[in-house]
Amino acid sequence: MENLTRQINTILSKELQALIYFLGRCSQRGSYKIYAVGGFVRDLLLGRENNDIDLVVDGSAVDFARSVLEIMPGTLRCYERFGTATLTLPRGTVFDMVTARKEFYAAPGALPTVEQSTLRNDLFRRDFTINTMACALNPLEFGKFYNFFGGLKDLREGIIRVLYKLSFIDDPLRIIRAIRFEQRFGFRIEKESFSLLKKAIENRAWEKISKERLYKEVRLVFREPKPSKVLARFAELNMFKNIFPRLTFSRELKNRLERLEQLLAEILIEKTFTNWSYSVLFLSALFYDLSEHDVRYFCYLMRLKRKERQNLLYVWENLPIVLPQLKNRMTGASNLYFLLEKMPEEGLLLAMVLDPDLLVREGIYYFCKHLLNKKPSITGKDLLKAGLEPGPIYNKILTKLHEAVLEGKISGRREEMEFVNMFLKG
Ligand code: CTP
Repeated sequence: MENLTRQINTILSKELQALIYFLGRCSQRGSYKIYAVGGFVRDLLLGRENNDIDLVVDGSAVDFARSVLEIMPGTLRCYERFGTATLTLPRGTVFDMVTARKEFYAAPGALPTVEQSTLRNDLFRRDFTINTMACALNPLEFGKFYNFFGGLKDLREGIIRVLYKLSFIDDPLRIIRAIRFEQRFGFRIEKESFSLLKKAIENRAWEKISKERLYKEVRLVFREPKPSKVLARFAELNMFKNIFPRLTFSRELKNRLERLEQLLAEILIEKTFTNWSYSVLFLSALFYDLSEHDVRYFCYLMRLKRKERQNLLYVWENLPIVLPQLKNRMTGASNLYFLLEKMPEEGLLLAMVLDPDLLVREGIYYFCKHLLNKKPSITGKDLLKAGLEPGPIYNKILTKLHEAVLEGKISGRREEMEFVNMFLKG
């Protein structure tokens, strides 16, 4: 294979093609050479579009990114010290740019120091051969395919192979990445690479990296098509207990995650749930049976953000109480609303996973589709305008009003006003 222009023109959306050709023309203006590399090229060869595009820039990545922004609107984050820039262009396409470089690892797990160098050198320092292919984007050699390290053959044969012996030691996160790719693509880790990986696990290589970096990588597992398979593989390789101490990857837990994956496949199509995060959802499922002390410990260990921690703990604390009530056929609309009102979407989803009873599912869908946005139009301001003295009575009236609206007893502003007047009279 010599050129990837055909793949670019057939596999990528028109918008992405336009952006790529545009960047190519920008590079020519400034005499830069730019190459798409890594996952973008790998996925292109697999017939998939990847909207996170890694670019190697021969010249300065930071200067090139700035020159693009002179012509096209977007946002830019530069890390001058590392010679890298992240450019986000319209429609959320992200270009991660690095200056063609050689990386010297001062100490295992330390951040790389940077020196100008060539495309080949840059690619040699990467994780697996399947991620070392490149494609030129300059108009003069647009689409030219670079395959220095046998990546194409490995991709065709479904093999994950490191480029050099110390790869997992230089960057222990690659242990997790290797397993993610293995499970995502159904590939196998090549024999020598696999023994290097196992040795790195035995030597607890990841203890050298910060918890932030480790758990940032772990969170990516939850975005995989089948997180349960990746976690099962962690368990098989004796890593699970290091990443999630105090948690056992039981058959039951695996089943739960599989049911969750199945549910996600459904809800991602129908769009009832739009306000949830993969991390909170999967962590809620993983930690559901742990003690409060252990859940809090994980929140700290994984450096969860405040909102994530709050949601996770809310689900953990309240779902065991809410779940049995969801199965009560006598729960009326307003009770159902107040039962689920504060439950994060992750909790609603987990409820359906934990209890396959149809009543649970129906209750949750009824809540989301018919109750969640069913609110009275009258607010506290209207009560104030009507001359009602502010106080605890406001809450009482508005709750009663909300209940009546949820139950379908009244609708429309006029009926709501009548309801308030009746309530005040007696
Ligand atoms: N890379 C690496 N070592 C790492 C992380 C990344 O060598 N620990 C390199 C790989 O060449 C990878 C590229 O940087 O292709 C971009 O990283 P990332 O965007 O995380 O990887 P993708 O391969 O695009 O992964 P995904 O498909 O999960 O987005």
